[in-house]
Amino acid sequence: MWSILILVILSILSYLVTDELIPKLKDLFIKAGLYGVDLCKNNNKKIPEAIGVISGCVFLVTSFIFIPTVFGNDLIERELFPHNEFAELLAALLSICCMLLLGFADDVLDLKWRYKLLLPTVASLPLLVVYYVNFNSTTFVIPIPFRQWLGVSINIGFLYYVYMGMLAVFCTNAINILAGINGLEVGQAIVIAASIIIFDIIELRGDQFKAHTFSLHIMIPYLATTLALMKHNWYPSKVFVGDTFCYVSGMTFAVVGILSHFSKTVLLFFLPQIMNFIYSVPQLFHIIPCPRHCLPKYSAEMDLLQASRTVIAKKDLTFFRKIIVQVLTILRLIDKVEDKESITINNLTLINLVLIKLGPMSEDRLTVTLLALQCCCTLLAFLIRYPMASYFYET
Ligand code: UD1
Ligand code: MG
Repeated sequence: MWSILILVILSILSYLVTDELIPKLKDLFIKAGLYGVDLCKNNNKKIPEAIGVISGCVFLVTSFIFIPTVFGNDLIERELFPHNEFAELLAALLSICCMLLLGFADDVLDLKWRYKLLLPTVASLPLLVVYYVNFNSTTFVIPIPFRQWLGVSINIGFLYYVYMGMLAVFCTNAINILAGINGLEVGQAIVIAASIIIFDIIELRGDQFKAHTFSLHIMIPYLATTLALMKHNWYPSKVFVGDTFCYVSGMTFAVVGILSHFSKTVLLFFLPQIMNFIYSVPQLFHIIPCPRHCLPKYSAEMDLLQASRTVIAKKDLTFFRKIIVQVLTILRLIDKVEDKESITINNLTLINLVLIKLGPMSEDRLTVTLLALQCCCTLLAFLIRYPMASYFYET
């Protein structure tokens, strides 16, 4: 456990370094043309974008420095060197590093959506190869209520690798699409990281302690650098984190989920992101028109945010669109205004849904509300994972 102590000290240092570097380097980003305008404010100030690359680099450097500590004893007794564990850590860091590079490319070049799906798939390949060599377990244990039909476990073979690749694509993009108000990308990542760390600590006494120690080795420096980023991204944001941060975060969660064998628990911590994804599907796949930015609309006279909207002309209301609007209306999940020629609905994001249910609110209150929801989902996840798990699996 002394290695964890050293990691905590290194992580505190990495927090201080990130906190120091962000204000020092942010003007360089503006000079390089990497800036955005805060769409929820009444000014056109240039805000440096893609600052997640700074926290991401410090996170990776901290992990690199930590390698000799983890494998210190094994380096002395080289015959017993655990090559498998070393390959696992290297593959994890390589996948995260790839995502940092690809995310930064996205911030600079503003890539199309199809590439946003392709890039994480490519970056997850080193991870999948190591998984194949070290574990190659492709069996799902079936929950008890379904065993009478499906048996105790089911081996899905190659499909398991497809599932893991898709997990990486989902985690990276899910954070990126639940975004657009100050502090939300970083805030949700902090709640998820803290949830994984708590889960690891609880499980350290179990027989999977090695896998959970591995997860802690990655999550602790990640959390430290992300907390430093939060300090500068919180309302009113002095920097934007960019797609770089969303990609690095998503890949970090996918890496620990896959290599520490708790991908289903990681998905439980992603409940708000899953809800947001499902709700956004009609616009993500352009079944319903989708503007470039779906984030809420700032109202200068109220100084509050309200749900942003999309107008669909009635002549463009195809059968499919009609069905979606009707289902969402029955489920009371949209705010719809209809006139002779068009219908206007809110953009389909969880952020806008909160605004139509709770009414217009200030940006910082909206972020806090969404983060409170994220925390509630973590509590629910722990409830499902512990007291209720015995209904589904032998514990
Ligand atoms: C995703 C969302 C988009 C949302 C955007 C905001 C989908 C399909 N896409 O696009 O709807 O508007 O994220 O991050 O769901 N910004 C702010 N305040 C913030 C953060 C960002 O105004 O707190 C604005 C800034 O103008 C910034 C821009 O959003 O420049 C960043 O957008 P970008 O991350 O490039 O958008 P996408 O990830 O493509
Ligand atoms: Mg983004």
